[in-house]
Amino acid sequence: MPKICVLDGDGIGPEIVAQALRVLERIGERFGRTFTFEHALIGGCAIDAVGGPLPEETVNACRGSHAVLLGAVGGPQWDDLDPAIRPEKGLLGIRKELGLFANLRPARLFRELQDACYLRPDIAEKGLDVMVVRELTGGIYFGEPRGEETRDTGRVGYNTMIYHEHEIRRIGRVAFEAARKRRGRVCSVDKANVLDVSRVWRAVMREVAQEYPDVELSEMYVDNAAMQLVRDPSQFDVVVTGNLFGDVLSDEAAAITGSIGMLPSASLGDGGPGLYEPIHGSAPDIAGQNKANPLATILSVAMMLRHSLGMPEEADAVERAVETTLSQGLRTGDILQPGTRAVGCAEMGDAVLACV
Ligand code: IPM
Ligand code: MG
Repeated sequence: MPKICVLDGDGIGPEIVAQALRVLERIGERFGRTFTFEHALIGGCAIDAVGGPLPEETVNACRGSHAVLLGAVGGPQWDDLDPAIRPEKGLLGIRKELGLFANLRPARLFRELQDACYLRPDIAEKGLDVMVVRELTGGIYFGEPRGEETRDTGRVGYNTMIYHEHEIRRIGRVAFEAARKRRGRVCSVDKANVLDVSRVWRAVMREVAQEYPDVELSEMYVDNAAMQLVRDPSQFDVVVTGNLFGDVLSDEAAAITGSIGMLPSASLGDGGPGLYEPIHGSAPDIAGQNKANPLATILSVAMMLRHSLGMPEEADAVERAVETTLSQGLRTGDILQPGTRAVGCAEMGDAVLACV
């Protein structure tokens, strides 16, 4: 019986997660599966309750489950805290604790949302289906030394962008494997014209490519990649990149599809539970108002069914239900277009549920 650890988090987290869990339960009824849920605290709500963003009980609850579903963390009320205990530390901490080095962020343009796409129609027409494979437990997010201090010259802040060969190799393999199941192309994004860390990244990626003669490797500097993503995203299949570049490029890839409210993600390690979350944040400005788009979280449940629970048919059913819902013209505020019908978070959940 699959056990899911649920981390509702802050802001719109609890609302969107509630809808995703309803869809999962409906899937269970339809396919004769029973899922059990254990809720645990992360982020700002954990800081308020127990004084830190990632309580040990939460880490243990995640370790004892088959998969983790997360809403979002953070909010303005915790922005002035000591950086060591900010809500974001909870998210970074759980990724690290569970060894979730591979973050899969698929950005695709739903046919039904073509009008919401920010790109020129002739560019959108060519399609957009990119899988960003972001390294998640290394790079500048975790590199040492790091710090803020005062020196003779004044205040300084610094971080270290460092990648070990084995970290590059394992994320590279995830990207090449993903490309095999897609259109057979990997674009490795770095800043090798400036950064030493990127030159090692590039060299190791080329070595990994030798193991996958059936997959084509290309290389791009991150500034150019940011530009190419809006000029002609149809050129990309799988994009593999480090933690910081992947953070930025995945938001860009998501936004050009029309709304960041549509994009799911999976974070995977070597065995152990995977973690599934929408790529958007906690949207404190609309929290608690039944306005949030739950589709990214619902689509994250589909990724969970596929990648952690070995239930591909169930995953397909969730994705089809989302597409059907969109084709019925229902839209939350972020994807609202002339001629479509505005609904709230719960109504969107109802509609998807009805389509499962
Ligand atoms: C993301 C977020 C996180 C990140 C933050 C909230 C720590 O932006 O998942 O993309 O930078 O990884
Ligand atoms: Mg981000």
